[in-house]
Amino acid sequence: MTTTASDEAIWLFGYGSLIYKVDFPYLERRRARLRGWARRFWQGSHDHRGTPEAPGRVVTLVADPDAVCIGMAYRVTPAVFAHLDHREKNGYARIAADFRFDDDSEVRGLVYVAAPGNEAYLGPADEAAIARHIAGARGPSGENRDYLLALAAALRELGSDDAHVFGIERALHRIGDDATV
Ligand code: BEZ
Repeated sequence: MTTTASDEAIWLFGYGSLIYKVDFPYLERRRARLRGWARRFWQGSHDHRGTPEAPGRVVTLVADPDAVCIGMAYRVTPAVFAHLDHREKNGYARIAADFRFDDDSEVRGLVYVAAPGNEAYLGPADEAAIARHIAGARGPSGENRDYLLALAAALRELGSDDAHVFGIERALHRIGDDATV
């Protein structure tokens, strides 16, 4: 059988729920780092961790020349994107990006980014405000706080020292502690 370009596997860089919610087949998976982008809880979620009336907050990538984002890269067949484009349809688009594995080899692949101006974009807020927002949000995929906690746990396992995510996680725990006093 001959292969065509459409059969060729593609590397996909995951930095959010793709790290811990792997509901798609992959050929290979490797820790990777993406330079020039920062993970931020700046995207609204109307369809997973919130609703159109009360959006949750989920991560997107924001261009930052000084940042390095640690994530998980998957080598997938093109067919996988039909599933993922539907799962991540709320403001995200696939863009081409170059990322590196731990052995310093570099590949060109794809990454989903929700750019400013998309219909669900929320933008920056301080960590305490983001934590309060997350503490009060839920949607068809469950509590927004469970998304944050699962992402923080997955980043810890990957050895990523993500000050933004861990700062929001600490602020969320403070809300919980204050509520029990
Ligand atoms: C990711 O984990 O890479 C991802 C996050 C949000 C939307 C799409 C993908």
